[in-house]
Amino acid sequence: MRPPLLLPLFGAIGLSNAFSTAPKNVPNKNENYIFNVIQDSMRQWGSSLHHNGVSFFLAGVPAGTQFYHGTSNASPVNGTEWLAFEPEHAMVFARPRRGPPPHLPPADSDTEQQEVVHGELRKRKHHDTDEKHHGPPGDHLPKALDENEAGYLHTYVAAKDLRLLYLDGMSAAKTSKGTLDSQDAVLFNGSLEDPLTRRGGESERARLACEMADNEWEGRIDGVLRMEAGFEIILCHFERDLTSVRITQVKQHSEGQHGPRSNRKHGDRDGPHKEGDDKHHDSHGPKKEDDGKRHGPGGPGGPGGPPHGGPGKGPDSSRWMRAITARYNGIGGNRVSLNFNHFVTAFSHNVDLFQDNSTMPRLANLTADELAVIRADVTNLIKTHNPTDVCEDWQVITDMIVTRYSKELSYFASGSIDSVEKLQSEVERVLSPFIDYSKRDDLAETERCATQFLPPLSSEGGGIAAHAVHGVAHRICSALVETGKEQDLKSAVQIVRNLVAYLDWATWKECRGCASNEICVVPIWPMGTVQDYNSPQCKDASNPYDQGGESYWGGIRH
Ligand SMILES: *[C@@H]1O[C@H](CO)[C@@H](O)[C@H](O)[C@H]1NC(C)=O
Ligand SMILES: *[C@@H]1O[C@H](CO)[C@@H](O)[C@H](O)[C@H]1NC(C)=O
Ligand SMILES: *[C@@H]1O[C@H](CO)[C@@H](O)[C@H](O)[C@H]1NC(C)=O
Ligand SMILES: *[C@@H]1O[C@H](CO)[C@@H](O)[C@H](O)[C@H]1NC(C)=O
Repeated sequence: MRPPLLLPLFGAIGLSNAFSTAPKNVPNKNENYIFNVIQDSMRQWGSSLHHNGVSFFLAGVPAGTQFYHGTSNASPVNGTEWLAFEPEHAMVFARPRRGPPPHLPPADSDTEQQEVVHGELRKRKHHDTDEKHHGPPGDHLPKALDENEAGYLHTYVAAKDLRLLYLDGMSAAKTSKGTLDSQDAVLFNGSLEDPLTRRGGESERARLACEMADNEWEGRIDGVLRMEAGFEIILCHFERDLTSVRITQVKQHSEGQHGPRSNRKHGDRDGPHKEGDDKHHDSHGPKKEDDGKRHGPGGPGGPGGPPHGGPGKGPDSSRWMRAITARYNGIGGNRVSLNFNHFVTAFSHNVDLFQDNSTMPRLANLTADELAVIRADVTNLIKTHNPTDVCEDWQVITDMIVTRYSKELSYFASGSIDSVEKLQSEVERVLSPFIDYSKRDDLAETERCATQFLPPLSSEGGGIAAHAVHGVAHRICSALVETGKEQDLKSAVQIVRNLVAYLDWATWKECRGCASNEICVVPIWPMGTVQDYNSPQCKDASNPYDQGGESYWGGIRH
């Protein structure tokens, strides 16, 4: 829910004057959300909780970074495909292909559309006849290999520094909750008509994104970086941007592990993921094999895949989930760097992202004109800045703030402090470094506290990130100063609680003390329940999502 604006913002003084040059659009608006955009970016945990991304970043990946692609095909990819950061994610798609899934409607206009998609997307015309029976981008697999029931894990390295457009949140999750808004509503202006009822949505996203990359974005972007159960890239030109390191055959799956239907399904694509092929109406958690579970996060198999026992079961799922939850706090290794000095977020635009009391931002609800402005900003960002421009790492600054205040604020808000005097002495302990006891001054103390972690000002005076981070730090410090002035415990605690609601840091939902065979479970499309969202818990890593309960995601779209 949108946190209420309860606390007065003190006038900016001192250092903060430098922050008073607002970026365009609306100053002081949504600073808490923008702070979380920065804090959650490229992290599986925060991006799973704050899953509706409304922001666009330039992202750089250094040459030499290893990537993985799973497929039924033993030859290197030529053209556009999906690329995973973790091999376990790609391995879910290292599957043999078989005939068409039995549940698909008979070939009709849909098939025609798929053929078009294939022709343009894959540049693999020699297998069109094969592909048309297999839905989404098929393979270039020789017939002999096609029939040998093998799956392959391709390992590539980036042949050059990659320039990507990162869409934040869980933007590879095919849901109707808003995870696709930044693509479908902004980038593609609704040109994917009714993706809910149509096959091929994901292939078309890849095709449209790469068309924009090559044309509208003048070749300045090599692909799109998104997250589902793992981070992945839609890379437009595999043959141009990657060097193949090795192609290895994966262990063959027994029917017992995956089941015949699952295997057929896997045969449809060779992602790290591909879109699903039809819709699902599963409203009761990932239990039944048949309704969406096959897809796993972003594709068939894995936690969503194994048909006999549902997602979250079996060695594949466990391998996948352990690997991607190891990246909850970041994919690490400096594999991706974001340009935080210049990025586009709808949170800084003067638009209503929370219509109908929505708890999550929705870009889909904006007018065509509003969307066009954001879209133009993205194009402008791409044309005028580079992923590798020298910039401040605002995420480490948000980390300093979150790690400093996260536990303190939980404690103050917990209700376990039994007198206002005690609460105020704890608050004073936190504020004391910023107090000149010979000269008390609320405004000065607040501002010293608020600027503690901020970098020296650049000549630019700070962009969206600088404003948001300063604004949030200021809000925290002013709330603490206010708390120190309250006469009664209840109102003092309430100030902190309002602050906590306003901040909505993902760290507050982290599990504590999971055993070494457990992972902390939060909904990651298409798995997870409402309960998992509201209070994530440690669960057995070999079966993390098999708990029943009301599905968090509801229906699935493409
Ligand atoms: C990739 O496909 C294109 C179009 O079919 C072809 O011209 C090109 O030679 C292929 N490149 C490689 C490396 O196979
Ligand atoms: C989206 O709209 C813009 C402006 O109307 C247009 O130039 C562009 O081609 C459209 N893009 C797609 C993918 O339809
Ligand atoms: C939004 O919430 C407010 C306060 O709970 C309520 O009064 C209002 O009717 C709600 N609006 C909609 C459109 O649901
Ligand atoms: C916002 O968009 C969603 C998805 O398109 C739709 O279900 C909802 O009714 C819209 N709400 C408003 C206020 O337009």
